[in-house]
Amino acid sequence: MSEVKERGFSRRNFLRAAGTLGISGALLGASVSGVRGQEENRGGDVSSAGAEHSSHGGNETTGSVDTSQFDPSEFLRDFYWGEERREGGGTVREYEITAEEVEIEVAPGVVYPAWAYNGQVPGPTLRATEGDRLRVVFKNNSEHPHTIHFHGFHPANMDGVFELVGAGQEFTYEFGAEPFGMHLYHCHTSPLRKHIEKGLYGAFIIDPEEGREEADEMVMVMNGFDTNFDAENEVYAVNTVAFHYQKNPIEIKKGELVRAYVVNVLEFDFINSFHTHANFFNYYPTGTKREPSEFTDTKMFAQGERGIMEFRYDFPGRFMFHAHVSEFAELGWMGLFDVKE
Ligand code: CU
Ligand code: CU
Repeated sequence: MSEVKERGFSRRNFLRAAGTLGISGALLGASVSGVRGQEENRGGDVSSAGAEHSSHGGNETTGSVDTSQFDPSEFLRDFYWGEERREGGGTVREYEITAEEVEIEVAPGVVYPAWAYNGQVPGPTLRATEGDRLRVVFKNNSEHPHTIHFHGFHPANMDGVFELVGAGQEFTYEFGAEPFGMHLYHCHTSPLRKHIEKGLYGAFIIDPEEGREEADEMVMVMNGFDTNFDAENEVYAVNTVAFHYQKNPIEIKKGELVRAYVVNVLEFDFINSFHTHANFFNYYPTGTKREPSEFTDTKMFAQGERGIMEFRYDFPGRFMFHAHVSEFAELGWMGLFDVKE
């Protein structure tokens, strides 16, 4: 308890200092880019914005992130179904996943040295239908050994724990898609925390055989980044880039069913949460049952916990969603739905 308190306190002090002094991204990370975003970042960044304004609306970063490499707005509704083919009367889906080292920009001018699947954090959202045969060809192009550990049912040798895939090596995971639900995959090489905090994770959706009701579907991976390597997160987000959906609101249609697949992959912090403004959602834990467990506007998530949220907005306009852990919200975990008529 005292450790948690102390950590939270020191981080707030860090923010206060940053806010007062107007520290730029340079202090946030050991490897902040000297190239990208430096000019526009001068005089303000994720931390100073958070410290100056404790009210909801005022938090934002100045400057913008280069989204040519990874655009959270595109990632949101991008599903990787693999290459589909029929084999022995069933559907086989073949995916290609590569592990590599890559620098990613998590806030304007703040570049994090990530380990990534297919060059992006989160990795691609893998999607399949219950009963499909999945073949995941994994190539390790990084300098460290890695694996892919999938949540779901599979044999022991497909669990991505003991079969380390060394630098330059390849491994093919093959198993059936079950059970239906919202799952995740991540590296399971030890030290585990390191391999997850560096960015080796992604969402893994298995649709029920009979499908789900037509909806506007999106994926939200709640994550964070320890940009100065002090074993706590300085930047929080949904889909990696702090405040991205605040600056680029997610357009949805009034009255249309929205289905958000949500997973928490934060390291260092035990609890994350998701809160929607002016609306409630049906919540399906792990997405494994057809009946919602709850109708609420705030849901708490432990590490690795995930589920499906379904909702409709009856009023047009902009509505905030954010972590109800206020500190995370102020450090980037905040966004907007823009409801159109
Ligand atoms: Cu790894
Ligand atoms: Cu896991």
